[in-house]
Amino acid sequence: MMERPKVTVVGAGNVGGTTAQRLAEKNLYDVVLVDIVQGVPQGKALDISQAGPVCGYSTMVVGTNDYVQTAGSSIAVITSGIPRKPGMSRDELLATNAKIVKSVVMELVSRSPDIVLILVTNPLDAMVHVARSVTGLPKSRIIGMAGVLDSARMRTFIAAELNVRATEVQAMVLGGHGDTMVPLPRYTTVRGRPVSELMSKEKLDAIVKRTRDGGAEIVGLLKTGSAFYAPSASAVAMVESILKDEKQVMPCAVLCEGEYGLKNVVVGVPVKIGRGGAEQIVEYELTNDERAALETSADAVRELCRTVDRLMA
Ligand code: NAI
Ligand code: 2OP
Repeated sequence: MMERPKVTVVGAGNVGGTTAQRLAEKNLYDVVLVDIVQGVPQGKALDISQAGPVCGYSTMVVGTNDYVQTAGSSIAVITSGIPRKPGMSRDELLATNAKIVKSVVMELVSRSPDIVLILVTNPLDAMVHVARSVTGLPKSRIIGMAGVLDSARMRTFIAAELNVRATEVQAMVLGGHGDTMVPLPRYTTVRGRPVSELMSKEKLDAIVKRTRDGGAEIVGLLKTGSAFYAPSASAVAMVESILKDEKQVMPCAVLCEGEYGLKNVVVGVPVKIGRGGAEQIVEYELTNDERAALETSADAVRELCRTVDRLMA
């Protein structure tokens, strides 16, 4: 059999387990699933592997509590951490998840020096910042997943409102993955037409608000834990754009060094995602209001990063 790229998923909980399942179903990658809880990654890996003969894939997923088998990974999707509980903000997760992310990325990079890290753990933008500070990897190889998910939520709400397929809706949500995220209705189209021609400003404003609150809406419904089907799908779309060198332009959290006028801050911007990871930040024309909203969002991330730097000093 031809050698397949290895993708490691850290955290075998809701997002990680589902990510491993989605990757296995592609039948193109070797998948390693890591968690600190004894038995859980092993059990989920076996279960996913055993679905293969039924679903028509031959991926053998490896479940483990250490990092030996992650050696030589092309990509790691990092989902380890604690999720939000109802009423809890993403920011409250900061201290606990920063420690987890720090230890996980050190383990990964020491065994896979060429790895691309896709961070999922919240608070997302701050976790990308932590991974950057502790590994020193080039910024192209540390990417946060949030914008693909937030845009998918917006696409779904618009599709339901206009009774079209969600795949016919394109949307772009920039900024930090939090209350200040910046959905861009001007870059939102339905079958190529600007969404503003197809629905009233009131309806569009309501969808923008629902998108910003999209994670909390699901937390409130589930009562325990947070969303994982759309988050895992979004992470896998990023993995595939890298491993297949698709060069899709996706909203991702990466370090900005002057792009959009933002200096030295991790925030969601459109990025060309290909074999080299985050190959290029793509600069869209923004209005003054959109630019100001992005700056406000970047300021919120900066504040969080200052806090995490202090906690970790
Ligand atoms: P979960 O609780 O189901 O799974 C987390 C897993 O991480 C658990 O199995 C836990 O044992 C494991 N873990 C904890 N410490 C670890 C360590 N040091 N090493 C390895 N594994 C460790 O949580 P879920 O729902 O999978 O969410 C995971 C994270 O992803 C949360 O921080 C959540 O807020 C975030 N998230 C981010 C999204 C985004 O858009 N960026 C979307 C959805 C979730
Ligand atoms: C979400 O947006 C929890 O950040 C996660 O669903």
